Order: sequence, then C-alpha cells, then structure tokens
Amino acid sequence: MLISLVLIIAAYLLGSVSSAILVCRIMGLPDPRTQGSNNPGATNVLRIGGKKPAAITLVGDSLKGLIPMVIGHLLGAEPLALAGIGLAAFLGHLYPIFFGFQGGKGVATALGVQFGLYWPIGLAVAAIWLFVAKILKISSLSGLISMALAPVLVWLLWPHPDSVRILAGMQLIISGLLIWRHRSNIRNLLAGTEGRLTKTPD
Ligand code: G3P
Repeated sequence: MLISLVLIIAAYLLGSVSSAILVCRIMGLPDPRTQGSNNPGATNVLRIGGKKPAAITLVGDSLKGLIPMVIGHLLGAEPLALAGIGLAAFLGHLYPIFFGFQGGKGVATALGVQFGLYWPIGLAVAAIWLFVAKILKISSLSGLISMALAPVLVWLLWPHPDSVRILAGMQLIISGLLIWRHRSNIRNLLAGTEGRLTKTPD
C-alpha cells in the first residue's frame, strides 16, 4: 500500500517534468508555451526547432510514462496501483507541479504508459498513430484517433481478464482527458485550419 502510494506520487512528479520546456531551454530555442500552438509538446517543438529537439522531447515525454509503469511491474504492483501510477504520470504531464500546472496534451506520455503497461498495447496504439500520421500528416488527429481507440485496445489485448476493467478504465480516463486537452485542435480540425506535421519555415 505504502509502496504503491510512493510510486504514484513519484510518477506524478516525474510526469511534471516538461521535456519540451527543458529541451527548448537547453537547446536555446524559444519557450514552446509562447510559440506555435503554445503547447509544450513534441509537435510544437518540431514547429519551433525541427526534428532533433522534437525527437528528444518525444522520447523524454514517453519515458515519463514508461519508467514508472516498468518500476511498478518490477515491484509487483497490483492492477489498481498500476492504473494509479499510469494516471499519475499522465496527470503530471497535463498539470505539472513544476510549471504552474500548465502542461501538455499527453499523447507521448500516454503512449509511454501503454508501452509500460503491456508493450503490445503500446505497439498497437503507436501503429495507429503512425498510420494516420502517414496518410493525413496531422499530429493532433493521429493522437485523437489512436487514443480514442486505446481503451478498446487495452480491453482486447490486456492478458489478465480479472483486471481488464481497471486498466481499460484507466485508459478511458486518460483518453477522455487527452481529447479534452485537444479542444482547440478539434475546433481547428472542424474549421479545416489545423496545421500539418512540418517544421515552420524560418
Ligand atoms: O501531442 C500534441 C499534439 O497532439 C498536438 O499538438 O502543438 O499541434 O497542438 P499541437
């Protein structure tokens, strides 16, 4: 019980470390909260600084979800604790204590949680993201479609039927919050003004 609580708090704190803001600071780029979509995430870092800082941001934000889940598995956390850890890491990214609770939209961190929960789930979500991105070249739409399907994928792929409701429930909350955080993207998509996956020309 105590160890689960410690893991949940640690996951939230790790999730609160914004890769996008740190990468931009270290690489001398503008603050992602003041440029492009104003979102501290890999897509916006791609717009601002190109592929390298975006890739580092993507890996960093994914690891924030992956590492706590792997540690949870290694320490034998119960399914409910695993769900708490995944949710805490995700909430840390969305509402980071170190950055005034103004965080990102959560796609990369959710993907890390899914890979850490059970890698075939992460692989399936990532494959859908890549497929949609390849065809439509819109990051937000790829995130929205893949994460909207993620609860179903958890339901279908999680190998322990006795705890599938708990973990699909966790994913449902994560996906719901993620869609909520993409409100401005959804408005732009409906208006046909959502940007494509490219670096803004200098
Ligand atoms: O992962 C974030 C992405 O889905 C949308 O980012 O910067 O286009 O709002 P952005």
